[in-house]
Amino acid sequence: MAQPSFTPRVFSGIQPSGGLHLGNYLGAIKRFVDMQNSGLNGQSFETIYCMVDLHAITTWQDPATLAHNTRELCAGFIASGVDPEKSVLINQSQVPEHAQLAWIFNTVARMGWMQRMTQWKDKAGKNSQNASLGLFAYPALMAADILIYHATHVPVGEDQKQHIELTRDIAAKFNNDYKVDFFPMTEPVIEGAATRVMSLRDGSKKMSKSDASDASRINMTDDADAIAKKIRKAKTDPDPLPETLEGLEGRPDARNLVNLYAALSDISAEAAIAQVAGQQFGQFKPLLADLAVEKLSPISSEMARLMQHTDEIDRLLARGAERAREIAAPILAETYKIVGLVK
Ligand code: TYM
Repeated sequence: MAQPSFTPRVFSGIQPSGGLHLGNYLGAIKRFVDMQNSGLNGQSFETIYCMVDLHAITTWQDPATLAHNTRELCAGFIASGVDPEKSVLINQSQVPEHAQLAWIFNTVARMGWMQRMTQWKDKAGKNSQNASLGLFAYPALMAADILIYHATHVPVGEDQKQHIELTRDIAAKFNNDYKVDFFPMTEPVIEGAATRVMSLRDGSKKMSKSDASDASRINMTDDADAIAKKIRKAKTDPDPLPETLEGLEGRPDARNLVNLYAALSDISAEAAIAQVAGQQFGQFKPLLADLAVEKLSPISSEMARLMQHTDEIDRLLARGAERAREIAAPILAETYKIVGLVK
């Protein structure tokens, strides 16, 4: 479908359901900053970034911890380079249009579509009858987050690809059902060496905030000692690093550390392996640890500084919500009109 009329606009979100980890940083936030500052393939974008607290509560969150994590996530965005002047920075629940559009999408999306979502299957597990209705409807709210701004591009890690495809399905069905060309076919942007950062303890598992082992991930609040220790202890194999990326096939732990080196150095995985070819892990791990500390320490100390001023964070979020609603409100009003909801 030709889409001449949509403003190039980026939206993405992160759940404040735990602390930020290196996977979130490299797979998402660092890419958000790139899109804010440099655009993509010569195109520049309006950028909107969101703490998705309504998504977080689809699984149980302690209220005080949720409020803390939401502010800390906001601090993490800013400390990593998201500029609240250049980008619109928001907390999802402060922009009610997200939830309002989500309800409409609940009537567009089909049960079968939701049942096929791998994240639903993973999170609900065997006990799906006991999962919240919100967890099941989660992808419809995510589609609403994106489409309430007519966002054209969504930078995410690989694990969110299926949800963006579903967003396109919802947009297409809405457009088709109501015979309009109203919602865009949003593109996922899944690029770079760190679209899927793996656990430091098991290279076949994604690095995740829900992993019981803290050693499996680098938290953005870890200090230099903790970062170095976790990298020193990261699982590897006995062989030296190969000359080419093909040589990393079947070596997921080694591949993960090379990807981390590449992403932290802002180079491709090919360029990274060329730099470290032939090294033993005894040599490579300290190099990686130094690099990680150099890149992450300024972010964690800035996060800690910002968290001393939570009133300032709240003020920024209130301002972000105002700016976001200027875009979202007319799109919701038009959606209501298309659907026949009398206002
Ligand atoms: P969430 O909160 O699980 O993760 C936030 C972002 O971090 C990426 N990510 C990773 N990237 C690389 N390696 C990893 N190990 C890793 N772990 C997480 C995720 O892909 C994501 O980009 N459903 C979303 C939140 C959301 C959203 C949206 C995203 C709600 N509405 C609208 C985009 C657009 C989620 O749970 O992300």
